[in-house]
Amino acid sequence: MSTLRDLAEEHTKLRPADIDHLHRIAGDWQLLSDLSFADLLLWVPVDDDGTFLCVAQVRPTTAPTAYLDDQVGRIVGGPEVAHLEVAYRQGRIWREGDPVWYGDVPARHEAIPVRLRTAEGEAGEVIAVVGRDTNLSTARTPSQLELNYLTTADDLAQMIADGTFPPPRHPGETTSAPRVGDGLVRLDAGGKVTYASPNAQSAYRRLGYASHLVGEDLAKLHRRLASDPLDGTEAANGILAALRGEGPPRREIDARGATMLTRALPLMPAGVPIGALVLVRDITEVRRRDRALITKDATIREIHHRVKNNLQTVAALLRLQARRVAMPEARVALEESVRRVASIALVHETLSMSSDEAVEFDGIVDRVASAATEVAATEVSVGMRRTGSFGVLPAEIATSLVMVLNELLLNAVEHGFPPVEEGGETAEPDVRPEVVVSAHRHRKQLHVSVTDNGRGLPAEFDADRGGRLGLQIVRALVTGELRGSIELRPRPTGGTEAVLVLPLAKA
Ligand SMILES: Nc1ncnc2c1ncn2[C@@H]1O[C@H](COP(=O)(O)OP(=O)(O)OP(=O)(O)O)[C@@H](O)[C@H]1O
Ligand SMILES: [Mg+2]
Repeated sequence: MSTLRDLAEEHTKLRPADIDHLHRIAGDWQLLSDLSFADLLLWVPVDDDGTFLCVAQVRPTTAPTAYLDDQVGRIVGGPEVAHLEVAYRQGRIWREGDPVWYGDVPARHEAIPVRLRTAEGEAGEVIAVVGRDTNLSTARTPSQLELNYLTTADDLAQMIADGTFPPPRHPGETTSAPRVGDGLVRLDAGGKVTYASPNAQSAYRRLGYASHLVGEDLAKLHRRLASDPLDGTEAANGILAALRGEGPPRREIDARGATMLTRALPLMPAGVPIGALVLVRDITEVRRRDRALITKDATIREIHHRVKNNLQTVAALLRLQARRVAMPEARVALEESVRRVASIALVHETLSMSSDEAVEFDGIVDRVASAATEVAATEVSVGMRRTGSFGVLPAEIATSLVMVLNELLLNAVEHGFPPVEEGGETAEPDVRPEVVVSAHRHRKQLHVSVTDNGRGLPAEFDADRGGRLGLQIVRALVTGELRGSIELRPRPTGGTEAVLVLPLAKA
Protein backbone atom coordinates (compact mmCIF):
# COMPACT_ATOMS: atom_id res chain seq x y z
CA MET A 1 0.00 0.00 0.00
CA SER A 2 1.22 3.48 -0.79
CA THR A 3 2.20 5.72 2.06
CA LEU A 4 0.86 9.18 2.71
CA ARG A 5 4.11 10.61 1.39
CA ASP A 6 4.11 8.51 -1.79
CA LEU A 7 0.53 9.45 -2.57
CA ALA A 8 1.03 13.14 -1.86
CA GLU A 9 4.25 13.33 -3.88
CA GLU A 10 2.76 11.49 -6.82
CA HIS A 11 -0.54 13.34 -7.11
CA THR A 12 -0.16 16.79 -5.56
CA LYS A 13 2.03 19.85 -5.50
CA LEU A 14 2.35 19.85 -1.71
CA ARG A 15 5.73 20.96 -0.40
CA PRO A 16 7.82 18.75 1.92
CA ALA A 17 6.88 20.94 4.91
CA ASP A 18 3.19 20.47 4.09
CA ILE A 19 3.60 16.71 3.89
CA ASP A 20 5.46 16.71 7.20
CA HIS A 21 2.55 18.52 8.80
CA LEU A 22 0.09 15.98 7.38
CA HIS A 23 2.27 13.23 8.82
CA ARG A 24 2.12 14.87 12.22
CA ILE A 25 -1.65 15.06 12.01
CA ALA A 26 -1.93 11.41 11.02
CA GLY A 27 0.38 10.57 13.93
CA ASP A 28 -1.87 12.21 16.49
CA TRP A 29 -5.39 12.16 15.13
CA GLN A 30 -6.58 8.94 16.76
CA LEU A 31 -7.31 11.23 19.70
CA LEU A 32 -9.66 13.39 17.63
CA SER A 33 -11.27 10.36 16.03
CA ASP A 34 -11.97 8.75 19.41
CA LEU A 35 -13.30 11.97 20.94
CA SER A 36 -15.49 12.57 17.88
CA PHE A 37 -16.78 8.96 17.69
CA ALA A 38 -16.06 9.45 13.99
CA ASP A 39 -13.89 8.26 11.10
CA LEU A 40 -11.33 10.77 9.93
CA LEU A 41 -10.15 10.93 6.33
CA LEU A 42 -7.28 13.14 5.26
CA TRP A 43 -7.98 14.64 1.84
CA VAL A 44 -5.59 16.60 -0.32
CA PRO A 45 -6.61 18.58 -3.41
CA VAL A 46 -5.38 16.94 -6.60
CA ASP A 47 -6.04 19.55 -9.26
CA ASP A 48 -7.63 22.90 -8.83
CA ASP A 49 -10.95 21.51 -10.05
CA GLY A 50 -12.44 20.26 -6.79
CA THR A 51 -10.96 16.77 -6.98
CA PHE A 52 -9.56 15.31 -3.76
CA LEU A 53 -7.33 12.34 -2.96
CA CYS A 54 -7.62 10.48 0.34
CA VAL A 55 -4.09 9.98 1.76
CA ALA A 56 -4.85 8.66 5.24
CA GLN A 57 -7.72 7.26 7.27
CA VAL A 58 -8.36 6.43 10.90
CA ARG A 59 -11.31 4.69 12.55
CA PRO A 60 -12.61 5.51 16.01
CA THR A 61 -11.95 2.98 18.77
CA THR A 62 -14.94 4.38 20.65
CA ALA A 63 -17.66 3.90 18.03
CA PRO A 64 -18.54 1.91 14.90
CA THR A 65 -16.88 3.00 11.69
CA ALA A 66 -18.72 4.65 8.83
CA TYR A 67 -16.40 2.95 6.32
CA LEU A 68 -15.87 -0.76 6.16
CA ASP A 69 -13.67 -0.29 3.08
CA ASP A 70 -10.30 1.32 2.89
CA GLN A 71 -10.58 4.87 1.56
CA VAL A 72 -6.87 5.62 1.15
CA GLY A 73 -5.90 6.16 -2.47
CA ARG A 74 -9.43 7.12 -3.59
CA ILE A 75 -9.66 10.12 -5.87
CA VAL A 76 -13.09 11.74 -5.79
CA GLY A 77 -14.64 14.80 -7.40
CA GLY A 78 -18.13 16.24 -7.68
CA PRO A 79 -20.98 16.33 -5.17
CA GLU A 80 -19.54 13.65 -2.86
CA VAL A 81 -16.69 15.97 -1.90
CA ALA A 82 -18.39 19.34 -2.35
CA HIS A 83 -18.20 19.89 1.42
CA LEU A 84 -14.41 19.40 1.32
CA GLU A 85 -14.18 22.04 -1.38
CA VAL A 86 -16.08 24.53 0.82
CA ALA A 87 -13.76 23.95 3.78
CA TYR A 88 -10.71 24.14 1.51
CA ARG A 89 -11.71 27.34 -0.30
CA GLN A 90 -13.22 29.22 2.62
CA GLY A 91 -10.86 27.95 5.32
CA ARG A 92 -13.66 27.21 7.76
CA ILE A 93 -15.12 24.12 9.36
CA TRP A 94 -18.11 22.91 7.41
CA ARG A 95 -20.97 20.99 9.04
CA GLU A 96 -23.71 19.27 7.13
CA GLY A 97 -27.36 19.15 8.07
CA ASP A 98 -28.71 16.01 6.49
CA PRO A 99 -27.17 12.59 6.81
CA VAL A 100 -25.64 10.95 3.76
CA TRP A 101 -25.73 7.23 3.09
CA TYR A 102 -22.90 4.80 2.55
CA GLY A 103 -24.71 1.69 1.42
CA ASP A 104 -27.09 1.23 4.31
CA VAL A 105 -25.02 3.21 6.83
CA PRO A 106 -26.28 6.72 7.51
CA ALA A 107 -23.43 9.13 8.17
CA ARG A 108 -22.92 12.76 9.01
CA HIS A 109 -20.25 14.67 7.13
CA GLU A 110 -18.02 17.41 8.38
CA ALA A 111 -14.96 19.01 6.84
CA ILE A 112 -12.11 20.60 8.78
CA PRO A 113 -9.55 22.68 6.87
CA VAL A 114 -5.92 21.86 7.74
CA ARG A 115 -3.80 24.94 8.08
CA LEU A 116 -0.03 25.07 8.34
CA ARG A 117 1.27 27.96 10.37
CA THR A 118 4.09 30.00 8.88
CA ALA A 119 7.56 30.00 10.40
CA GLU A 120 6.61 33.31 12.03
CA GLY A 121 3.72 31.61 13.76
CA GLU A 122 1.03 33.22 11.66
CA ALA A 123 -1.95 31.36 10.29
CA GLY A 124 -0.84 30.14 6.87
CA GLU A 125 -2.62 28.54 3.96
CA VAL A 126 -5.04 25.66 3.96
CA ILE A 127 -3.14 22.65 2.63
CA ALA A 128 -5.64 19.81 3.09
CA VAL A 129 -9.00 18.90 4.58
CA VAL A 130 -9.87 16.41 7.30
CA GLY A 131 -13.22 14.77 6.66
CA ARG A 132 -14.94 13.81 9.89
CA ASP A 133 -17.65 11.28 9.16
CA THR A 134 -19.86 9.86 11.87
CA ASN A 135 -21.77 6.61 11.56
CA LEU A 136 -25.25 7.61 12.73
CA SER A 137 -26.81 4.15 12.81
CA THR A 138 -26.09 3.72 16.51
CA ALA A 139 -26.55 7.34 17.52
CA ARG A 140 -28.69 7.94 20.56
CA THR A 141 -29.04 10.62 23.20
CA PRO A 142 -25.45 11.35 24.17
CA SER A 143 -24.28 10.60 27.70
CA GLN A 144 -22.34 12.94 29.94
CA LEU A 145 -19.13 11.30 28.72
CA GLU A 146 -20.10 11.64 25.07
CA LEU A 147 -21.01 15.29 25.44
CA ASN A 148 -17.69 16.02 27.07
CA TYR A 149 -15.80 14.12 24.37
CA LEU A 150 -17.66 15.90 21.58
CA THR A 151 -17.04 19.36 23.05
CA THR A 152 -13.35 18.62 23.36
CA ALA A 153 -13.30 17.17 19.83
CA ASP A 154 -14.73 20.41 18.48
CA ASP A 155 -12.01 22.40 20.23
CA LEU A 156 -9.32 20.17 18.69
CA ALA A 157 -10.98 20.38 15.26
CA GLN A 158 -10.83 24.17 15.49
CA MET A 159 -7.16 23.88 16.44
CA ILE A 160 -6.47 21.84 13.29
CA ALA A 161 -8.09 24.64 11.32
CA ASP A 162 -5.98 27.19 13.24
CA GLY A 163 -2.80 25.20 12.69
CA THR A 164 -2.17 24.68 16.42
CA PHE A 165 -2.94 20.95 16.58
CA PRO A 166 -1.10 18.63 16.84
CA PRO A 167 1.32 20.03 19.43
CA PRO A 168 5.05 19.54 18.81
CA ARG A 169 6.47 16.07 19.16
CA HIS A 170 9.10 15.26 21.72
CA PRO A 171 11.93 12.96 20.71
CA GLY A 172 12.38 9.62 22.43
CA GLU A 173 8.77 9.11 23.49
CA THR A 174 8.66 5.38 23.02
CA THR A 175 5.77 4.10 25.10
CA SER A 176 2.62 4.67 23.08
CA ALA A 177 0.73 7.76 24.20
CA PRO A 178 -2.31 7.31 26.42
CA ARG A 179 -5.53 7.10 24.45
CA VAL A 180 -8.92 8.56 25.09
CA GLY A 181 -10.19 5.21 26.35
CA ASP A 182 -7.32 4.93 28.86
CA GLY A 183 -8.50 7.97 30.79
CA LEU A 184 -9.31 11.56 29.96
CA VAL A 185 -9.43 14.67 32.14
CA ARG A 186 -10.48 18.11 30.99
CA LEU A 187 -9.29 21.23 32.76
CA ASP A 188 -10.58 24.79 32.61
CA ALA A 189 -8.30 27.77 32.06
CA GLY A 190 -7.58 27.89 35.79
CA GLY A 191 -6.37 24.28 35.83
CA LYS A 192 -9.45 22.89 37.67
CA VAL A 193 -10.91 19.59 36.54
CA THR A 194 -14.23 20.03 34.74
CA TYR A 195 -14.58 16.43 33.63
CA ALA A 196 -12.85 13.10 34.33
CA SER A 197 -13.76 9.90 32.49
CA PRO A 198 -14.45 6.83 34.64
CA ASN A 199 -11.15 5.23 33.55
CA ALA A 200 -9.24 8.37 34.51
CA GLN A 201 -10.92 8.33 37.90
CA SER A 202 -9.82 4.68 38.37
CA ALA A 203 -6.23 5.44 37.34
CA TYR A 204 -6.00 8.16 40.01
CA ARG A 205 -7.53 5.81 42.56
CA ARG A 206 -4.64 3.41 41.94
CA LEU A 207 -2.24 6.25 42.74
CA GLY A 208 -4.02 6.67 46.04
CA TYR A 209 -6.52 9.41 45.24
CA ALA A 210 -10.00 8.15 46.03
CA SER A 211 -12.19 11.30 45.83
CA HIS A 212 -13.86 12.84 42.82
CA LEU A 213 -11.53 14.70 40.53
CA VAL A 214 -13.98 17.36 39.39
CA GLY A 215 -13.09 20.70 40.91
CA GLU A 216 -9.54 19.63 41.82
CA ASP A 217 -6.50 21.64 40.80
CA LEU A 218 -4.75 18.89 38.83
CA ALA A 219 -1.24 20.37 38.87
CA LYS A 220 -1.38 20.60 42.66
CA LEU A 221 -2.82 17.11 42.90
CA HIS A 222 0.05 15.66 40.83
CA ARG A 223 2.58 17.39 43.02
CA ARG A 224 0.90 15.99 46.09
CA LEU A 225 0.51 12.42 44.82
CA ALA A 226 3.96 11.72 43.35
CA SER A 227 6.24 9.74 45.66
CA ASP A 228 9.25 11.57 44.25
CA PRO A 229 8.87 15.34 44.75
CA LEU A 230 10.91 16.02 41.63
CA ASP A 231 8.56 13.90 39.48
CA GLY A 232 5.63 15.67 41.10
CA THR A 233 7.01 19.07 40.22
CA GLU A 234 7.72 18.00 36.64
CA ALA A 235 4.23 16.57 36.21
CA ALA A 236 2.72 19.74 37.67
CA ASN A 237 4.85 21.93 35.39
CA GLY A 238 3.69 19.92 32.38
CA ILE A 239 0.10 20.75 33.16
CA LEU A 240 0.87 24.43 33.72
CA ALA A 241 2.70 24.51 30.37
CA ALA A 242 -0.33 23.05 28.59
CA LEU A 243 -2.56 25.65 30.23
CA ARG A 244 -0.27 28.33 28.77
CA GLY A 245 -0.76 26.82 25.31
CA GLU A 246 2.46 24.80 25.07
CA GLY A 247 2.75 21.11 24.23
CA PRO A 248 4.75 19.58 27.09
CA PRO A 249 6.36 16.12 26.87
CA ARG A 250 4.68 13.12 28.48
CA ARG A 251 5.35 12.57 32.16
CA GLU A 252 5.19 9.59 34.44
CA ILE A 253 3.98 9.74 38.01
CA ASP A 254 4.86 7.02 40.51
CA ALA A 255 2.83 6.73 43.65
CA ARG A 256 2.13 3.86 45.98
CA GLY A 257 3.83 1.37 43.69
CA ALA A 258 1.64 2.35 40.74
CA THR A 259 2.80 4.27 37.67
CA MET A 260 0.68 6.59 35.55
CA LEU A 261 1.69 8.03 32.19
CA THR A 262 0.24 11.46 31.53
CA ARG A 263 0.02 13.57 28.42
CA ALA A 264 -1.18 17.15 28.68
CA LEU A 265 -2.42 19.00 25.59
CA PRO A 266 -3.35 22.64 25.36
CA LEU A 267 -6.89 23.58 24.36
CA MET A 268 -6.86 26.88 22.54
CA PRO A 269 -9.44 27.04 19.78
CA ALA A 270 -9.17 30.25 17.76
CA GLY A 271 -5.97 31.01 19.69
CA VAL A 272 -7.68 31.47 23.06
CA PRO A 273 -6.30 29.27 25.87
CA ILE A 274 -9.41 27.79 27.43
CA GLY A 275 -7.87 24.94 29.36
CA ALA A 276 -6.11 21.65 28.82
CA LEU A 277 -6.75 18.03 28.07
CA VAL A 278 -4.90 15.45 30.14
CA LEU A 279 -4.79 11.85 28.97
CA VAL A 280 -3.72 9.34 31.57
CA ARG A 281 -2.80 5.68 31.39
CA ASP A 282 -2.02 3.24 34.14
CA ILE A 283 1.29 1.69 33.05
CA THR A 284 2.14 -0.04 36.33
CA GLU A 285 2.26 -3.45 34.66
CA VAL A 286 4.33 -2.24 31.71
CA ARG A 287 6.91 -0.69 34.03
CA ARG A 288 7.01 -3.75 36.25
CA ARG A 289 7.70 -5.94 33.21
CA ASP A 290 10.39 -3.52 31.99
CA ARG A 291 12.15 -3.73 35.32
CA ALA A 292 11.93 -7.52 35.35
CA LEU A 293 13.38 -7.69 31.83
CA ILE A 294 16.25 -5.38 32.71
CA THR A 295 17.24 -7.55 35.67
CA LYS A 296 16.88 -10.71 33.59
CA ASP A 297 19.17 -9.28 30.92
CA ALA A 298 21.75 -8.29 33.48
CA THR A 299 21.61 -11.73 35.08
CA ILE A 300 22.16 -13.51 31.78
CA ARG A 301 25.11 -11.28 30.99
CA GLU A 302 26.57 -11.94 34.41
CA ILE A 303 26.22 -15.70 33.90
CA HIS A 304 28.05 -15.55 30.57
CA HIS A 305 30.76 -13.58 32.29
CA ARG A 306 31.17 -16.25 34.96
CA VAL A 307 31.10 -19.09 32.45
CA LYS A 308 33.86 -17.31 30.57
CA ASN A 309 35.91 -16.93 33.77
CA ASN A 310 35.41 -20.59 34.65
CA LEU A 311 36.46 -21.73 31.18
CA GLN A 312 39.55 -19.58 31.39
CA THR A 313 40.38 -21.20 34.72
CA VAL A 314 39.99 -24.65 33.17
CA ALA A 315 42.25 -23.60 30.31
CA ALA A 316 44.84 -22.31 32.76
CA LEU A 317 44.79 -25.57 34.73
CA LEU A 318 45.28 -27.60 31.56
CA ARG A 319 48.12 -25.34 30.49
CA LEU A 320 49.83 -25.87 33.85
CA GLN A 321 49.40 -29.59 33.48
CA ALA A 322 50.77 -29.52 29.94
CA ARG A 323 53.95 -27.86 31.18
CA ARG A 324 54.49 -30.60 33.74
CA VAL A 325 54.02 -33.73 31.66
CA ALA A 326 57.10 -35.20 30.05
CA MET A 327 55.48 -37.26 27.32
CA PRO A 328 55.31 -35.07 24.15
CA GLU A 329 52.10 -36.64 22.91
CA ALA A 330 50.35 -35.97 26.19
CA ARG A 331 51.58 -32.39 26.16
CA VAL A 332 50.27 -31.78 22.64
CA ALA A 333 46.91 -33.26 23.61
CA LEU A 334 46.64 -31.01 26.65
CA GLU A 335 47.65 -27.94 24.66
CA GLU A 336 44.95 -28.70 22.14
CA SER A 337 42.40 -28.92 24.90
CA VAL A 338 43.53 -25.51 26.11
CA ARG A 339 42.76 -24.06 22.70
CA ARG A 340 39.38 -25.78 22.51
CA VAL A 341 38.30 -24.47 25.88
CA ALA A 342 39.63 -21.00 25.12
CA SER A 343 37.66 -20.77 21.89
CA ILE A 344 34.39 -21.42 23.73
CA ALA A 345 35.36 -18.84 26.33
CA LEU A 346 35.61 -16.30 23.53
CA VAL A 347 31.92 -16.70 22.69
CA HIS A 348 30.86 -16.29 26.30
CA GLU A 349 33.04 -13.25 26.64
CA THR A 350 31.30 -11.67 23.66
CA LEU A 351 27.89 -12.67 25.00
CA SER A 352 28.66 -11.16 28.38
CA MET A 353 29.12 -7.81 26.68
CA SER A 354 26.08 -7.84 24.41
CA SER A 355 22.59 -6.94 25.50
CA ASP A 356 20.88 -9.89 23.83
CA GLU A 357 21.46 -13.56 23.26
CA ALA A 358 23.17 -13.01 19.93
CA VAL A 359 26.70 -12.14 18.92
CA GLU A 360 28.45 -10.30 16.13
CA PHE A 361 30.38 -13.35 14.98
CA ASP A 362 33.03 -11.89 12.65
CA GLY A 363 35.12 -10.56 15.53
CA ILE A 364 35.12 -13.96 17.20
CA VAL A 365 36.18 -15.74 14.00
CA ASP A 366 39.01 -13.30 13.49
CA ARG A 367 40.31 -13.92 16.98
CA VAL A 368 40.07 -17.72 16.71
CA ALA A 369 41.75 -17.53 13.30
CA SER A 370 44.70 -15.49 14.50
CA ALA A 371 45.10 -17.83 17.49
CA ALA A 372 45.25 -20.76 15.05
CA THR A 373 48.06 -19.20 13.00
CA GLU A 374 50.12 -18.71 16.13
CA VAL A 375 50.29 -22.49 16.53
CA ALA A 376 52.43 -22.78 13.46
CA ALA A 377 54.00 -19.36 13.67
CA THR A 378 57.49 -20.59 14.42
CA GLU A 379 57.53 -23.12 11.57
CA VAL A 380 55.77 -21.67 8.55
CA SER A 381 54.19 -18.26 8.33
CA VAL A 382 50.58 -18.82 7.28
CA GLY A 383 48.44 -15.94 6.10
CA MET A 384 44.87 -15.78 7.38
CA ARG A 385 42.01 -13.97 5.68
CA ARG A 386 38.26 -13.68 6.11
CA THR A 387 35.93 -12.83 3.26
CA GLY A 388 32.24 -12.10 3.62
CA SER A 389 30.46 -11.79 6.92
CA PHE A 390 28.86 -14.15 9.40
CA GLY A 391 26.65 -11.38 10.74
CA VAL A 392 24.88 -11.69 14.05
CA LEU A 393 24.36 -15.25 15.25
CA PRO A 394 22.24 -16.56 18.11
CA ALA A 395 24.22 -17.80 21.09
CA GLU A 396 23.41 -21.48 20.61
CA ILE A 397 24.77 -21.46 17.05
CA ALA A 398 27.76 -19.33 17.97
CA THR A 399 29.16 -21.66 20.67
CA SER A 400 29.04 -24.74 18.45
CA LEU A 401 30.24 -22.95 15.34
CA VAL A 402 33.28 -21.45 17.04
CA MET A 403 34.43 -24.93 18.08
CA VAL A 404 33.93 -26.27 14.56
CA LEU A 405 35.89 -23.41 13.02
CA ASN A 406 38.61 -23.78 15.61
CA GLU A 407 39.16 -27.41 14.57
CA LEU A 408 39.04 -26.70 10.84
CA LEU A 409 41.42 -23.78 11.15
CA LEU A 410 43.87 -25.74 13.27
CA ASN A 411 43.78 -28.61 10.80
CA ALA A 412 44.38 -26.28 7.87
CA VAL A 413 47.40 -24.73 9.58
CA GLU A 414 48.78 -27.93 11.12
CA HIS A 415 48.22 -30.41 8.32
CA GLY A 416 48.17 -28.10 5.30
CA PHE A 417 51.50 -26.54 6.14
CA PRO A 418 53.45 -29.00 8.28
CA PRO A 419 56.93 -28.14 9.57
CA VAL A 420 59.53 -28.71 6.88
CA GLU A 421 61.70 -31.27 8.65
CA GLU A 422 58.73 -33.50 9.41
CA GLY A 423 56.92 -33.68 6.06
CA GLY A 424 59.69 -32.82 3.64
CA GLU A 425 57.18 -31.82 1.02
CA THR A 426 55.77 -28.27 1.39
CA ALA A 427 53.62 -25.92 -0.57
CA GLU A 428 55.02 -24.56 -3.81
CA PRO A 429 57.57 -21.94 -2.86
CA ASP A 430 55.92 -19.31 -5.10
CA VAL A 431 52.52 -19.78 -3.43
CA ARG A 432 52.08 -17.87 -0.22
CA PRO A 433 50.66 -20.22 2.45
CA GLU A 434 47.21 -18.95 3.15
CA VAL A 435 44.00 -20.00 4.89
CA VAL A 436 40.76 -18.27 3.91
CA VAL A 437 37.54 -18.33 5.90
CA SER A 438 34.58 -17.17 3.93
CA ALA A 439 30.97 -16.77 4.95
CA HIS A 440 27.78 -15.61 3.35
CA ARG A 441 24.08 -15.95 3.96
CA HIS A 442 21.77 -17.35 1.38
CA ARG A 443 18.06 -18.07 1.90
CA LYS A 444 18.18 -18.48 5.67
CA GLN A 445 21.32 -20.59 5.39
CA LEU A 446 24.82 -19.76 6.43
CA HIS A 447 27.47 -20.96 3.98
CA VAL A 448 30.94 -21.18 5.43
CA SER A 449 34.14 -22.47 3.93
CA VAL A 450 37.65 -22.88 5.29
CA THR A 451 40.14 -23.30 2.48
CA ASP A 452 43.89 -23.67 2.44
CA ASN A 453 46.42 -23.90 -0.37
CA GLY A 454 48.49 -26.46 1.52
CA ARG A 455 49.60 -29.93 0.69
CA GLY A 456 46.11 -31.47 0.58
CA LEU A 457 44.41 -34.39 2.30
CA PRO A 458 46.35 -37.63 2.66
CA ALA A 459 45.66 -40.22 -0.05
CA GLU A 460 44.08 -42.71 2.32
CA PHE A 461 41.74 -40.07 3.82
CA ASP A 462 38.09 -41.14 4.15
CA ALA A 463 35.99 -38.00 4.08
CA ASP A 464 33.11 -39.49 6.04
CA ARG A 465 34.89 -41.50 8.64
CA GLY A 466 38.47 -40.37 8.67
CA GLY A 467 39.89 -38.33 11.43
CA ARG A 468 40.66 -38.34 15.05
CA LEU A 469 39.13 -36.31 17.80
CA GLY A 470 39.20 -33.02 15.85
CA LEU A 471 37.03 -34.09 12.93
CA GLN A 472 34.82 -36.16 15.23
CA ILE A 473 34.02 -33.01 17.19
CA VAL A 474 33.32 -31.21 13.93
CA ARG A 475 30.94 -33.87 12.58
CA ALA A 476 29.14 -34.31 15.88
CA LEU A 477 28.48 -30.57 16.24
CA VAL A 478 27.59 -29.91 12.61
CA THR A 479 25.10 -32.73 12.25
CA GLY A 480 23.87 -32.53 15.84
CA GLU A 481 23.64 -29.08 17.43
CA LEU A 482 23.86 -27.14 14.19
CA ARG A 483 21.65 -29.44 12.05
CA GLY A 484 23.79 -28.72 9.02
CA SER A 485 26.21 -30.48 6.71
CA ILE A 486 29.94 -30.53 6.18
CA GLU A 487 32.14 -31.67 3.37
CA LEU A 488 35.91 -31.94 3.43
CA ARG A 489 37.45 -32.24 -0.02
CA PRO A 490 40.55 -31.53 -2.07
CA ARG A 491 40.55 -28.26 -3.97
CA PRO A 492 41.07 -28.51 -7.73
CA THR A 493 43.88 -25.95 -7.49
CA GLY A 494 45.57 -27.79 -4.64
CA GLY A 495 45.00 -27.68 -0.95
CA THR A 496 41.87 -28.55 1.00
CA GLU A 497 38.47 -27.02 1.48
CA ALA A 498 35.92 -27.64 4.18
CA VAL A 499 32.41 -26.52 3.21
CA LEU A 500 29.69 -26.01 5.82
CA VAL A 501 26.01 -25.28 5.26
CA LEU A 502 23.97 -24.37 8.34
CA PRO A 503 20.29 -23.52 8.62
CA LEU A 504 19.69 -20.23 10.46
CA ALA A 505 15.95 -20.44 11.01
CA LYS A 506 14.73 -22.15 14.17
CA ALA A 507 13.40 -25.66 13.65
N1 LIG B 1 43.31 -28.97 5.82
C1 LIG B 1 43.86 -30.18 5.82
N2 LIG B 1 44.93 -30.45 5.03
C2 LIG B 1 45.52 -31.68 5.04
N3 LIG B 1 45.10 -32.70 5.79
C3 LIG B 1 44.06 -32.52 6.61
C4 LIG B 1 43.37 -31.26 6.66
N4 LIG B 1 42.35 -31.37 7.55
C5 LIG B 1 42.41 -32.63 8.02
N5 LIG B 1 43.40 -33.32 7.47
C6 LIG B 1 43.73 -34.72 7.72
O1 LIG B 1 42.68 -35.33 8.44
C7 LIG B 1 43.17 -35.91 9.63
C8 LIG B 1 42.14 -35.90 10.70
O2 LIG B 1 41.97 -34.60 11.27
P1 LIG B 1 41.51 -34.45 12.76
O3 LIG B 1 41.34 -33.04 13.04
O4 LIG B 1 40.34 -35.33 12.98
O5 LIG B 1 42.71 -35.05 13.60
P2 LIG B 1 44.10 -34.41 13.95
O6 LIG B 1 44.11 -32.99 13.54
O7 LIG B 1 45.12 -35.27 13.40
O8 LIG B 1 44.10 -34.50 15.52
P3 LIG B 1 43.20 -33.65 16.55
O9 LIG B 1 42.25 -34.62 17.12
O10 LIG B 1 44.15 -33.14 17.49
O11 LIG B 1 42.50 -32.60 15.76
C9 LIG B 1 44.43 -35.19 9.95
O12 LIG B 1 45.33 -35.96 10.70
C10 LIG B 1 44.98 -34.87 8.55
O13 LIG B 1 45.70 -35.95 8.05
MG1 LIG C 1 42.69 -31.60 14.02
